[in-house]
Amino acid sequence: MLRRLHHEQPESFAFTSENQAWAEAQITKYPEGRQASAIIPLLWRAQEQEGWLSRPAIEHVAQMLDMDFIRALEVATFYFMFQLQPVGSVAHIQVCGTTSCMICGAEDLVAVCREKIAGQPHALSADGKFSWEEVECLGACANAPMAQIGKDYYEDLTAEQMAWIIDELAAGRVPTPGPQNGRYASEPEGGLTSLKEFESGRTAHNASVALAEQMDDTIKRIDGSEVPVLAPWHERGARHQPADPAVDLNETPVEVGEKTRYPQPGKGAEIDETGIAKQEAQAFEKGKPEPKAEPAPMQEPQEPDHEQGEGVKPALLSEARGDGPDDLKHIKGVGPKLEKKLNDLGVFHFDQIADWSPDEVQWMDENLVGFKGRVSRDGWVEQARKLAAGEDTEFSARAKKGDDD
Ligand code: FES
Repeated sequence: MLRRLHHEQPESFAFTSENQAWAEAQITKYPEGRQASAIIPLLWRAQEQEGWLSRPAIEHVAQMLDMDFIRALEVATFYFMFQLQPVGSVAHIQVCGTTSCMICGAEDLVAVCREKIAGQPHALSADGKFSWEEVECLGACANAPMAQIGKDYYEDLTAEQMAWIIDELAAGRVPTPGPQNGRYASEPEGGLTSLKEFESGRTAHNASVALAEQMDDTIKRIDGSEVPVLAPWHERGARHQPADPAVDLNETPVEVGEKTRYPQPGKGAEIDETGIAKQEAQAFEKGKPEPKAEPAPMQEPQEPDHEQGEGVKPALLSEARGDGPDDLKHIKGVGPKLEKKLNDLGVFHFDQIADWSPDEVQWMDENLVGFKGRVSRDGWVEQARKLAAGEDTEFSARAKKGDDD
């Protein structure tokens, strides 16, 4: 079957603010440069919100992940779980037509769908409430024939039950998912023949059905308000929640010379021709060490800097000390891009990071634009202490081995 974008497309797509927050939080799960890995959950959330994936929705997700549209389209058209055309406003019914279900009566279920919904799969019913399709094995073969409706499985179905379920849904009621023939799960129809002791521990429904009953979202569109962000790292790293609302952390960086700096409120005019904000340059000069001075001379007390969020700005260097910069990529969580950002900011050595106080960690977490929260999330200080002492961490040992290979 050809999977193409629908011939009629909406003008635009936008996540609800809650779903947008959820999507941005998902992106923070992935290392820098691997954000495209969030494509499936983001497309899925777009579909959960709208019922299907429109071209604007795929474009929106592609933009969020900095992907070419064609790459996102490849994913959306490859997986059958993504609906590329409008589905019923109440439910889209997916009838399994693979071997077990076919033998046990899937064709009868399809016949009901043809009669009650539409003659062809992926077509809307006359009232727009339903659509259906035949799909490949959904992994519930022991409960054949079955159908997935919205998010849940209806199993051990007969044609009559299929018709009844559609009628119930049309009337605004959601029948309890799971086996429809009285079975608890996938035990023999005549009941357990072994391990009978487990019967005494049964609850009203098996775990899957119980969860479906509890969540009560079988056919519900997800606008995000009903689900938590589900990303405990989110508060520390999400880009959509800048510590200072006045700071647009997604603002396009100012390119000056070879350096790149992100504008801060009221500081745009202070970026000099080297690309280093004047205040920052002054801080560099203030803490500038003598060449090859040991120990690191950048620890002189600094005035607390609350320019962006809370925390205290650590001492920074204008350049690496005499022997050159340390390979900061030996710190887990630091890639080439982040290493360059740290160098641009004035961080070159493990011992600089090793000496950061909790307040300084907080400042760095707040001010590493595009990498917020990484310092504490990945435990840089603990790693840097070992590295500064000439020891290896598990990660740096692996990284060095990779360097040698
Ligand atoms: S054959 Fe239908 S669920 Fe596997």
